[in-house]
Amino acid sequence: MNNFDFVCPTKIIFGKGTENRVGQETKKYSKKVLFVYGSGSIKKTGLYDKVVKSLKDNDVDYIELSGVKPNPRLSLVYEGIKICKENGIDFILAVGGGSAIDTAKAIAVGALYDGDVWDFFVGKAEIEKALPVGVILTLAATGSEASDSAVITNEDGWYKKGIHSDLIRPQFAIMNPELLYTLPQYQTAAGAADIMAHIMERYFTNVRNVDLTDRLCEATLKTMINNVPRLFENPEDYDARAEVMWAGTIAHNGLLDTGRIGDWASHRIEHELSAIYDIAHGAGLAIIFPAWMKYVYKHDLDRFVQFAVKVWDVDLTFTDREAIALEGIKRLEDFFRNIGLPVTLKEANIPYDRFEEMADKCTSNGTATVGQFVKLTKEDIINIYNLAK
Ligand code: NZQ
Ligand code: ZN
Repeated sequence: MNNFDFVCPTKIIFGKGTENRVGQETKKYSKKVLFVYGSGSIKKTGLYDKVVKSLKDNDVDYIELSGVKPNPRLSLVYEGIKICKENGIDFILAVGGGSAIDTAKAIAVGALYDGDVWDFFVGKAEIEKALPVGVILTLAATGSEASDSAVITNEDGWYKKGIHSDLIRPQFAIMNPELLYTLPQYQTAAGAADIMAHIMERYFTNVRNVDLTDRLCEATLKTMINNVPRLFENPEDYDARAEVMWAGTIAHNGLLDTGRIGDWASHRIEHELSAIYDIAHGAGLAIIFPAWMKYVYKHDLDRFVQFAVKVWDVDLTFTDREAIALEGIKRLEDFFRNIGLPVTLKEANIPYDRFEEMADKCTSNGTATVGQFVKLTKEDIINIYNLAK
């Protein structure tokens, strides 16, 4: 096991009715906040009214910034930064999924910086301070409610890039599984794929003697496998929603990383897809992850056998270890397909003519490698896009 620092300061407020505590929690930080949300789902579900009431009941003033799009855009981040600077706002409340939360985090960093916030995304500046952020989560997927990262798309060139810092972990995350009942099935499915991908990115490591985190990863994946199908039988299955929602936070708050080095190639390769084709991040991962696995499994066959046996219950009496590993990958693919996700580029109607461009963007024009488990070159990435056809 490697040395590690583990920080996860986010206060999780979990369960029925917890959204009504938002004003009470927010006022501990500020009486003047920026309230960030998406394209209106929170108005349809009635959550908006509850948030406004709770803020008003607690004498918290707010300015709204709505219109966050999935694969959130830099232009709205600039708008939020301007509002914060002009109005002396010192707290940001995000209500929604990963896109609203990531927009809030990027604004939080940019509001205390004199230069262009994009500097942080391209490594021109290091994050030294950020406004505090609070969250009400409405989609179990990205883990952004407690993660140290934010991912933003710059429309100028369609670059999708992330920042990482413990300073942008939210102060609190309010998580009521009932708020997820209104999710379209496709978003539930894409969210599930994202959660599973966050676990698998960590699972496939070259670090040895990481038994505890291996078992935690396997248990979290099994929780997903057992509970996600229940949401397709009954979207209002509270217990299944609760298991999946909590798994989503655990998958990406850093706990499963402790003492090991994750891979993250699939995420990087996927981000190029969602930047250009604007598909849901989780759907992109359902396509890329199995293709990545087929490309790299021989690098550590034992680990892929372990994945097949411990996560997917593949029968060890299979005589051929390679067949066991491949069966594990197939079961993952079947799982994604069964919840209605595309598992090939073709199924997502993505054309095959920009592989080179995406691989270039991913590897800084072929000068860098991607991933830790296997360090992939530009050529490898093109091969993986080809395997995903
Ligand atoms: O915009 P609204 O109207 O709210 O609708 C949203 C949006 O259309 C809708 N939705 C959310 N909650 C709902 C709901 N509809 C009905 N009922 C509800 N309860 O769902 C749609 C998708 O929302 P979005 O926030 O875009 O989805 P998600 O949470 O999957 O976020 C995806 C973004 O997060 C990034 C992704 O790359 C992508 O840009 N990621 C962020 C990470 C992080 N910060 O740690 C890590 C991830 O790996 C990921 O890269
Ligand atoms: Zn992800």
